Amino acid sequence: MISNQKIISMNNDLLDSQHQDLFEISIKLSLMNHRHINSKELKEVLKELLVMLNRHFLDEEAFMREIHYPFMKEHMKIHRNIIFEIEEIIVSEARSIHILTEKLDYVVKDFIINHTSKEDYKIVKYYEKKFKI
Ligand SMILES: [Fe+2]
Ligand SMILES: [Fe+2]
Repeated sequence: MISNQKIISMNNDLLDSQHQDLFEISIKLSLMNHRHINSKELKEVLKELLVMLNRHFLDEEAFMREIHYPFMKEHMKIHRNIIFEIEEIIVSEARSIHILTEKLDYVVKDFIINHTSKEDYKIVKYYEKKFKI
């Protein structure tokens, strides 16, 4: 279950509000997941998440380009992988709700929360070093 973690600021209002929205939908997904709701309902929210993520990644990639972030390629690879994993869950015919639940927890925690706090944070560090001193 996701705790009330502090969301990092990217020094960009659009990205910050997208992170906030992603964080909220992650909490929603996690709560639904632990209520053992049916897979169809979960997949609907996952599709919503996918749309939000696609939009967010495009905007974040534009931001990286703008600030000449040197590790953009690596970061974009991770983005593509997250999208791929979520698409896989959506199209999968989960044999049991249990499998879907485990995968979903992994996606929410590792891909969304950890990605923001670890990988996106590297962009923040770079930005602050380059532009804020
Ligand atoms: Fe992000
Ligand atoms: Fe990112």
